[in-house]
Amino acid sequence: MQEINVGLIGFGTIGAGVARVLLENREIIQSRLGCPLNLAKIADLDITTDRGVKIPDGILTTDVNEILGNPAIDIVIELIGGYEPARGFVLKALAAGQSVVTANKALLAKHGNELFSAARENEVDFYYEASVGGGIPIIKVMREALAGNRINSVCGILNGTCNYILTRMGSEGADFAEVLSEAQKLGYAEADPTFDIEGIDTAHKLAILTSLAFATPIDYDRIHVEGITSIKPVDFDFAHEFGYKIKLLAIAKQEEGQIEARVHPTMLPESHMLAKIDDVFNAVFVNADALGPSLYYGQGAGMMATASAVVGDLIDIARNRLNGGLRRVPDLSFQESAITPACYRPMQEITTQYYLRFSAYDKTRVLSRIAGILGENEISIASVIQQGRSQTGGTVPIVMQTHKAREANLRQALEVIDELEIIAAPTVVIRMESDL
Ligand code: HSE
Repeated sequence: MQEINVGLIGFGTIGAGVARVLLENREIIQSRLGCPLNLAKIADLDITTDRGVKIPDGILTTDVNEILGNPAIDIVIELIGGYEPARGFVLKALAAGQSVVTANKALLAKHGNELFSAARENEVDFYYEASVGGGIPIIKVMREALAGNRINSVCGILNGTCNYILTRMGSEGADFAEVLSEAQKLGYAEADPTFDIEGIDTAHKLAILTSLAFATPIDYDRIHVEGITSIKPVDFDFAHEFGYKIKLLAIAKQEEGQIEARVHPTMLPESHMLAKIDDVFNAVFVNADALGPSLYYGQGAGMMATASAVVGDLIDIARNRLNGGLRRVPDLSFQESAITPACYRPMQEITTQYYLRFSAYDKTRVLSRIAGILGENEISIASVIQQGRSQTGGTVPIVMQTHKAREANLRQALEVIDELEIIAAPTVVIRMESDL
């Protein structure tokens, strides 16, 4: 009987999950595929630590070249993360005619175009479902299920660590640092949590979704990125008073021939479906012309959820091989000739509503001076919250919700306001999105 042999590079948390799924679900996978999907080799520098999965003899190796270019291995899984040596390993596998599966969003965001070209030239598959949304099959949805649609926008909560932190801060008034350390212990955060909390991991994922949605090469540098580190528990209280939740949102939309692609903390109306996505869960909200709005929800991080996506890719590629259909689906769904560089809208040109929290000294005419400067810059105020007087003669928060305004106008106004002697600290700005 024919077999498909798999080599796994990287025996960390996700690697151990993949091994477990392949070994424990071997029969059900075979009953779907029609032949065995064998875990033939696992390469890692550390092959002695117990990962909680019993690996049969002869599979573990410290030599990656027992996998890369080995004609007995059909599909290579790259799960070491980071840029190098991951990029070199993937290129070597593709050049040797091996198909590749990866979960590495950072690698795709930086080198995706090069890797897609190599896969095309070598006529093999390069699948990356686990790179966005962990276990949620959003890549398959975008590449295949929605292939008949024009995508208008794709927005999402794409980082489990940030969503966990924001959920706990919002529900318990918990401290940022304490919740981050718990997320790390639970294994959600990246090795370097900066990528999570500064929005970089979310932006890597948005760069991939933007290309899939709008037929453009991956261009991470065009994504505007802000993280969640400057949000304070008090912002959740004010958000609640306005009827909003705070989420780290990835937004990509195409309007008037321009792409807007941005990652930043966002206030969403409590009634919006994305506002209801809590804890480590991720969700992607797609607006497509034929289907209309649709929401994809599930575990965006973690060992078994991510392993589920990796193994789904393996089975897809194995099916392609068995049916002589490698390259059945183009890497970004579009034919290469249809993928063209896009025009991205500069951040200064976006228009949205804003939440502004001013730290003002408790003096007379503060509110009128702030309102005056906003008005001079064409920013109209929708509502204001000013709490009771400072008991200590210190600062008081003044919070405003604006009507829709141009980002450039807002920045111009804040440059002036933040220099006033009545202002004690830089104004906190959170964009409010009501019509995604
Ligand atoms: N650190 C990521 C997260 C893992 O928290 O979502 C999945 O990419």
